[in-house]
Amino acid sequence: MATDAEANKRRAALAALELVPSGVTIGIGTGSTVNLFIDALAANPGRVRSAVSSSQASTARLRAAGLAVVELNELPDLALYVDGADEATPARHLIKGGGGALTREKILAAAAQRFVCIIDDTKLVTTLGRFPLPIEVIPMARTLVARQLTARGGRPLWRQGFVTDNGNYILDVHDLSIADPVALERELNQITGVVTVGLFAARPADVLLVGTAQGVQTR
Ligand code: 5RP
Repeated sequence: MATDAEANKRRAALAALELVPSGVTIGIGTGSTVNLFIDALAANPGRVRSAVSSSQASTARLRAAGLAVVELNELPDLALYVDGADEATPARHLIKGGGGALTREKILAAAAQRFVCIIDDTKLVTTLGRFPLPIEVIPMARTLVARQLTARGGRPLWRQGFVTDNGNYILDVHDLSIADPVALERELNQITGVVTVGLFAARPADVLLVGTAQGVQTR
């Protein structure tokens, strides 16, 4: 039987389907919520022309669902990107990267005219930071970046045994104070060796669909 969170993720995923224009190519994120969205696309053949994927995992699921996967570089533009998040604020600032796909996710968010984020209501927070902030780093810079993060008051933990689709490592940073997500994203982006910060604030979601037991809230 589906848990409450899973049922709410499904509600958000189905609501996102309503925002997909027919016959376009869309960007697809990564994670359990997006998997439900892919299932919804599979149940509506022809709804999208094709998809650009943010991870090997989503590519495999899209292909298994019979959906064509194309490269971002083949497209003149990208109308829509649909993805989940680990935390979201009412201002639609996000923490992402729990699944380790943050770099390609950030590229698709940057490329898309519209970014629709789908979450269940356990992920809605007033202030980001309860969920440890994932940061993708070049492997040889792992300890260099970790020291810089510690100096900023964070507690970085290496996600051992995990390598991103880009061949890099993830540091999950606990205890960071994220009062100003845009400023912190900019600051952490400047640390040499950082590939991508899992803060999606400079380019927030355009629409946040929050699945709740009472229905879907749009923010
Ligand atoms: C992957 C992500 C996911 O969107 C995030 O981890 C949420 O995943 P889920 O939908 O499984 O809760 O950022 O890198």
